[in-house]
Amino acid sequence: MKINVSSSHNIDGTLILPLFEGTEIVPESHATGLHVALKSQINRVLADGDFKAKNKSTMTLIGGEGGKAMLVGLGKEEDADVHAYRKAGASVVAARKKAHGTDLTVRFSGSSIDCMAAFGEGMMLRDYSYDNYKMKDDEGEEAERLVRITCDEGQEEELESLMNIHEGVVSGVHLSRDLGNCPPNDMYPEAFADMAWEWAKDYDNVKVTIINYDQAVKAGMGGLVAVGMGSSRKPCMVIYEMNHELDGRCPLLVGKGITFDTGGISLKPGANMDEMKYDMGGSATVFGTMQALAATGHKGKVVAITCMAENMPAANAQRPGDVITTLSGKTIEVLNTDAEGRLVLSDGLWKAGEFDPEFIIDFATLTGACVVALGHEATGLWSNDDDFRTKIHEAGNAVDELAWPMPLLPAFEKEMTNSKIADTRNLGAGRYGGANTAAAFLKQFVPNRNYDKDGEQITWAHMDIAGTYWGAKTNTMVGNGATGIHVRTMYHLITNYKN
Ligand code: BES
Ligand code: ZN
Ligand code: ZN
Repeated sequence: MKINVSSSHNIDGTLILPLFEGTEIVPESHATGLHVALKSQINRVLADGDFKAKNKSTMTLIGGEGGKAMLVGLGKEEDADVHAYRKAGASVVAARKKAHGTDLTVRFSGSSIDCMAAFGEGMMLRDYSYDNYKMKDDEGEEAERLVRITCDEGQEEELESLMNIHEGVVSGVHLSRDLGNCPPNDMYPEAFADMAWEWAKDYDNVKVTIINYDQAVKAGMGGLVAVGMGSSRKPCMVIYEMNHELDGRCPLLVGKGITFDTGGISLKPGANMDEMKYDMGGSATVFGTMQALAATGHKGKVVAITCMAENMPAANAQRPGDVITTLSGKTIEVLNTDAEGRLVLSDGLWKAGEFDPEFIIDFATLTGACVVALGHEATGLWSNDDDFRTKIHEAGNAVDELAWPMPLLPAFEKEMTNSKIADTRNLGAGRYGGANTAAAFLKQFVPNRNYDKDGEQITWAHMDIAGTYWGAKTNTMVGNGATGIHVRTMYHLITNYKN
């Protein structure tokens, strides 16, 4: 989809008219150049109440000489914020998924520049399908959709620069979705790392380093190695550095990247196991965020780490009962090989300390328990710093990606350190509070500043996206498959961050 901005009154293709609830007659600003037959049709359905302009509703009308218009609801005028506009934009694309004819002209009536841009953002976000593995029909690739957003004279420049930012960020969301949707026979640790390597070539200010299996063994990354060693596709860690020559502390993101989670020797039940291809969603979020920042020309320093492994049962897989030594030197009693995300993250979090970051945020499809707690509606959010947790929660609200505060309690930490033979264990004592015990486990691997034993722990947050990285059926911005959640949250947080 290509979005242009213009103040011209021409109508190319189908006219898209966003309307508030209660509109009874098409506003003059909307009607310029409209075919009379189409205009009277629109006025008729509005006057008769056939189209109520509820947010996300759409109606297509055909007028004289083939002219077409689509009415789209913004909801009540007093509630029509950027989120309502973004959803309305998405609903236009969702409603037109199967329609032929590509050009669209959108006309607003007295909307703010932010709202118009959000509408365009919603259109771009929803303009996504994953059909790499479907046979192409004879007509081949569909032509790129051209969309013109009509604004008032003098607004073009500001609207266009906002649209360019949205376009860059959306490319990051779509990258995250592509990575997640890719089937696990093609998406394995080294394939992910290769993609990151190739990606870095497109940007002068980014550097990607791959720590391969042998190097990970040598470095002592016992968590990453133990999880990945049962697969013929060996694990690796990928490090992304943006504007690395700059001095000072910077944000650092860490991602769980299990390209397929069978559970390992603690094998999962068969039903829906295919969904465990999404278990690299944390890494996809992190890579997608780096793409969003790179594509929008972010000038600050940012570092990311993705911990890639495939969790397989095999003769050379780790066993329940094994004790492993992580990069931090801490030993873990592995009581369940299906609690593998926390093992790879233990090394990723510890490694993060080397970059002396301002803060660390990890993303992981970590626990089924988080889905039990929050469903598909919100990501679980834990932090060792209440203000920082609030900042992330607010960044999520600003872009309509909910992240809900969860408790990091000493009692949960105690539960996880209660191993008879190792420093810590990867399984809680019982079934309850599983998302919280997982977060408490991770906290043990967040380094202190400069790895100083007596120093202060680096500001850190953990985001469990097990319920939100896929399967969010109520999310109209998305459609099927991976959602690409939190690329926009992270873009917002990082580009607005003040400590
Ligand atoms: N990848 C899963 C978590 C998951 C489950 C995400 C369902 C999304 C949907 C994770 O590795 C896992 O299996 N966790 C276990 C932990 C348990 C063994 C302590 C779980 O949640 O059951
Ligand atoms: Zn698992
Ligand atoms: Zn997992």
